[in-house]
Amino acid sequence: MIKIALLGCGNIGEFIANAVYRGIIHCKLVKVFDKDKNRSKDFLKDVNLDFEVVDNIDDLIEGVDLVVEAASQEAVTEYALRILESGKSLMIMSVGALADNRLFRDMKKAAMKRNVKIYIPSGGIVGVDGLNAASLATIDSVEITTRKNPKTLGVDVKEETVIFKGAALDGVRKFPKSVNVAATLGIAGVGLDGTLLRIVADPKVDKNIHEVHVKGDFGEFTTIAKNLPSTQNPKTSWIAALSAIALLKKLTNVVHIGT
Ligand SMILES: NC(=O)c1ccc[n+]([C@@H]2O[C@H](COP(=O)([O-])OP(=O)(O)OC[C@H]3O[C@@H](n4cnc5c(N)ncnc54)[C@H](O)[C@@H]3O)[C@@H](O)[C@H]2O)c1
Repeated sequence: MIKIALLGCGNIGEFIANAVYRGIIHCKLVKVFDKDKNRSKDFLKDVNLDFEVVDNIDDLIEGVDLVVEAASQEAVTEYALRILESGKSLMIMSVGALADNRLFRDMKKAAMKRNVKIYIPSGGIVGVDGLNAASLATIDSVEITTRKNPKTLGVDVKEETVIFKGAALDGVRKFPKSVNVAATLGIAGVGLDGTLLRIVADPKVDKNIHEVHVKGDFGEFTTIAKNLPSTQNPKTSWIAALSAIALLKKLTNVVHIGT
């Protein structure tokens, strides 16, 4: 059984731990770490899961196969390389951190050297499977429009307003908690600098909506995800947590469906 450690005991971390508890994923949760000790101390204390709460990254890494990051872009920047260089695989939710080209390049080098993997779940978007396949031929354009309630985006506008239009590379830095999906799309396709991101603050919507459009030699596709926000953290769509769980499940599944 794969031994996993959780970096981040928030909303997504809790979903993942619960999926382990309910036997949905056949992994053993061995350790958890959160910079907020109150979060890790009380993490799933009502559930009978035998994991250790640690207070630093070195203890988290020790004795596990895979670290699941569900914390923040800063956590990826601070710890990703150390995790991979220690010979542990890493699943990343705060994908926007990989806008740092040098960091991502060093992470890939470390993963190759230690023969471990970097896993990036699809998160809140649909279409990553299609883009993976399509990018084996020429891609002409990759665009994503993210539409959220202004409160979720932390802006104060009274009517539908485009608050960002530009390269995903810049957008994920400006809105580090809201558009990690744009980084995922960039990595799967033509890069973060070549992926066009629009962020729309729309007081009329109560869902996190991501519309993806890809054009290339294969033809074109458009996908629209209208995601319900998590109750614990409205910035995070529930399906993003489910996507992490689905990828963990895939690691141990006999049958693999989808690219
Ligand atoms: N890839 C995607 O599609 C996608 C979708 C939703 C959310 N996310 C990202 O996933 C991450 C987790 O989301 P969430 O809803 O669980 O957030 P959350 O705020 O509910 O939980 C994050 C937890 O991580 C802890 N943390 C933050 N930085 C840390 C650090 N440097 N070291 C240790 N602990 C740290 C926080 O104290 C908190 O308890 C966020 O960065 C979020 O933006 C990605």
